Amino acid sequence: MELRGIQQAGVEILANHYKPEVIICKTPSEVDAYVANRLAQQIQTRPDSVLTLPTGNTPTGMYEHLVTLVKSGQLDLSRVTIFNLDEYHPIDPSHKGSYAAYMRRHLIDQVPTSAWYIPNGQAEDPQGEAARFKALLDAHQPVDLAILGIGPGDTCHIGFNEKGSSIDTTVRYMPLDPQTKATNSQLFEDPSEIPEGTLTQGIADILQAKEIIVIAKGSSKAWGVNRALKGPVGAEAPASFLRLHPHVTFVLDEEAAGYLQ
Ligand code: F6R
Repeated sequence: MELRGIQQAGVEILANHYKPEVIICKTPSEVDAYVANRLAQQIQTRPDSVLTLPTGNTPTGMYEHLVTLVKSGQLDLSRVTIFNLDEYHPIDPSHKGSYAAYMRRHLIDQVPTSAWYIPNGQAEDPQGEAARFKALLDAHQPVDLAILGIGPGDTCHIGFNEKGSSIDTTVRYMPLDPQTKATNSQLFEDPSEIPEGTLTQGIADILQAKEIIVIAKGSSKAWGVNRALKGPVGAEAPASFLRLHPHVTFVLDEEAAGYLQ
């Protein structure tokens, strides 16, 4: 797979770029069904697929569809390997707000899968944990399909690659951007318990996937989606790097597509 773009004096210069496919669904639940069906097709074509999966508000409906497909006998995830994009740090994996707990609730404890990897949010040495997770991911690359969300407001993050993340970043500790922290703290029963940082796949890790789908729903994503698809490619808007990958689809509801002409 050819990634396009060159680096010069620390500045990413766009040599040429691809045009992601954009699918606009009428409602958020149509987005969930569409992405779940794309995932199901991938797994039916290759039952031992390796996937990168997101957490957060956006994909919960997609997971519900997937679980329903499995429980009704239409889909089998038992040979699938799952990598999560990220985890908070520091956090106990049994904490309700952790992404490990999220994944168990929405997928892992619901249906059989072959293997599931997520960074250890309570690792004492976050750099060592990042290296361990990266080695596991590298041993399974290229991921067949990566599903991503996109950051709220003007963060334009993918994974927790916040502004300033360059194209060559790999798994690492990242402090949370204040805007992301304010938004995500609402998902914690006690918002003050949100950790200061995350362990996240980097841009270079994400771009190694054979295919990438970005899901965005709601008006809080409209600016970021437009910036990613139409603005200059570079670290100021990390999701814009997706335009250097040949097989990317944005699946949006009408609100998230609201700024696209
Ligand atoms: C989460 C992740 C993040 C989220 C993004 C959107 O695993 O990687 O990039 O996808 O922050 O979050 P929601 O879906 O809660 O709006």
